[in-house]
Amino acid sequence: MKYLALNNLKLSSSDPKICVPVMGKDKKEVLEQVKIVKRKNPDLIEFRADFLKWDKDLKKNLKNIKDILEAINKECDIPLIFTIRTAKEGGELDIEFAQYALVNIEVAKISDEYNVALIDVEGIKHKCNTKLLIEKIHEAGGNVIVSNHNFHKTLAYEFLIRRIQMLSLLDADVVKIAMMPRNKRDVDNLMMAVRYADKRIGQPIVAMSMGEMGSVTRAATKKMGTVFSFASGVDESAPGQPRVEVLRYLLKDYKLNKNIALIGFMGTGKTTISYALHNITGFDEIDSDAYIVEKAKKSISDIFKDDGEAKFRELETLSLKEIGDNFRGIISCGGGAVLKQENVDILKKSGVIIQLYADAETIFERVRYSKTRPILNEDMSVEHISRLMSARDEAYTKAADIRTSVADNNRLEACYRILTQLEKLGVISEIDK
Ligand code: S3P
Repeated sequence: MKYLALNNLKLSSSDPKICVPVMGKDKKEVLEQVKIVKRKNPDLIEFRADFLKWDKDLKKNLKNIKDILEAINKECDIPLIFTIRTAKEGGELDIEFAQYALVNIEVAKISDEYNVALIDVEGIKHKCNTKLLIEKIHEAGGNVIVSNHNFHKTLAYEFLIRRIQMLSLLDADVVKIAMMPRNKRDVDNLMMAVRYADKRIGQPIVAMSMGEMGSVTRAATKKMGTVFSFASGVDESAPGQPRVEVLRYLLKDYKLNKNIALIGFMGTGKTTISYALHNITGFDEIDSDAYIVEKAKKSISDIFKDDGEAKFRELETLSLKEIGDNFRGIISCGGGAVLKQENVDILKKSGVIIQLYADAETIFERVRYSKTRPILNEDMSVEHISRLMSARDEAYTKAADIRTSVADNNRLEACYRILTQLEKLGVISEIDK
């Protein structure tokens, strides 16, 4: 377990912190944002200086930055990260390296006075110069978070590890990596690579997969071993940032007292939500359809085709029984599972049932190209989905202990709604750190 004390700020993966960015274009706007953000009690505020209006005269910029730092300090005593995110890494400012270096070194000189816990230095763009810059910032009394962002793609697993190791060699105090995923595998790879690299480098890591698809990583700090995560205070500064209150809740440690069964129509995102909950809480997950496939040694479509739906339903009940008897965690159920009361009783015996729901149009958009759902395959249309949904609605609603809409396409918000309800029902309880 890594632990880093930066003045009053203690960074450790066992107690991950929350950082909220402010992105005003001038002192007035920055302060307005700080006033809003401080009420949410973040552990860190990131002052994104690249959003400021920059003058041609460097001295004026330095004076402006110093004024703003002073004003933020008067407003609150939350430690700061000072960041100039350049346009090349998804930020707002095109700036020459010499100027970039100079501003950061000047800020380092006043970092103690103005509670600047970390100065962000982009690690990859300027390579050899960067190591020297980090050294200079250290000499000037600042601490460095060395960062690397890719808003277009995620590096492959081995390259991610190498990238993190390379950043680590620049001798900053914290290493940060943020990548945009193109698919679920990218998200998984990032989490695994960070976990692997974290054990092999000296510095604590901050890491995230961006966008809605990667948003789970923002709350999966325990899985990756990361020490803080970004939440949005006023606006998002990068895609996928959760609200502070949501992130705070999701970062707590919970123990599971009963099973959690996810039900709902095809395409409501049972698998997605199960995966998110698993990565956030560490609870085990199992997919009843995958269990059936394993047991039958053939795909769901083939079971329907060769043996008929009745046989599939038989296998489904048998599987749910076995899962209920032997498994503790999140059960992601097939869309038709709770149409049979016997299955509802099985699921209720070991836990609670959560229904995910969305409107027929949303479902259609999500499943329209799916070839693996025999129930929809003969008639892939909003009307058919709508008819089936109406026919099933009562069974879903009757079976569910908790219902939540997933039409907003926001998995962290959905996990938040689910976990807060589960806590009220005593299904999960917070573990004191
Ligand atoms: C079914 C839903 C599918 C799968 C099978 C039957 C249904 O699961 O169990 O094709 O009757 O709704 P998903 O909801 O995970 O697609």
